[in-house]
Amino acid sequence: MANADSVVTIHMAASLDGFIARRDGRVDWLETSDEFAGGETMNPAFVEAFLKTIDCYVMGSRTYETALGFEAKGFGWSYGDKPTFVLTSRKLPRIRETVEFYSGDLAQFVNGRLRPKFRSIWFVGGGAVAAECLRLELADEVRYSILPVLIGDGIQFFEKLDRDVTLHLAEVKAYKNGMVELRYEVRKHRDESR
Ligand SMILES: NC(=O)c1ccc[n+]([C@@H]2O[C@H](COP(=O)([O-])OP(=O)(O)OC[C@H]3O[C@@H](n4cnc5c(N)ncnc54)[C@H](OP(=O)(O)O)[C@@H]3O)[C@@H](O)[C@H]2O)c1
Repeated sequence: MANADSVVTIHMAASLDGFIARRDGRVDWLETSDEFAGGETMNPAFVEAFLKTIDCYVMGSRTYETALGFEAKGFGWSYGDKPTFVLTSRKLPRIRETVEFYSGDLAQFVNGRLRPKFRSIWFVGGGAVAAECLRLELADEVRYSILPVLIGDGIQFFEKLDRDVTLHLAEVKAYKNGMVELRYEVRKHRDESR
């Protein structure tokens, strides 16, 4: 049975034109040099405390391969000691104890295995997995961090959605570095009369 308290979040950072990576997978544009005087300052202590509230991460294999590349270059592992589930049908290197691979029915995995065990479940990309999560109506909220840059082409935040997904804007924050963070709640079909 699904845990009624569990929340499935999709989170990614994207350019204003909706791309999460260049076509070749590069995310160099995530470093921007904007200044927005009226914005909030990122408080490292707040970020650290917030990350502690996330119980597990889920990602696609291509995002995992990017994370492997970052780690190999000495940039570290972004997912701390939290369980990290990688969706793949391939045999990939398992670089730490917290990483587990999954292949199969995603809805059954999320509702049958993750929701009963974890409260805050974060899908951290990429576009293929984010779209699949929405298509299967598994996501409760979408957190979209928009960076002050247009990159013209790349991998879309939500790849090939086959229908509209209606949302409720729940939170907006703007930061000193020009990033805007949007939090939307996904309006499930049963809620659409609201
Ligand atoms: N800007 C950001 O915040 C952000 C965040 C995350 C990622 N990214 C970027 O996005 C790019 C990757 O995104 P992407 O859309 O190309 O790929 P992705 O979503 O990371 O991975 C897609 C792959 O995951 C596997 N997969 C998907 N659903 C599955 C399921 N239900 N069961 C088993 N396996 C499943 C398949 O690979 P197999 O062939 O292995 O089965 C599929 O090809 C990278 O360049 C990364 O850097 C950016």
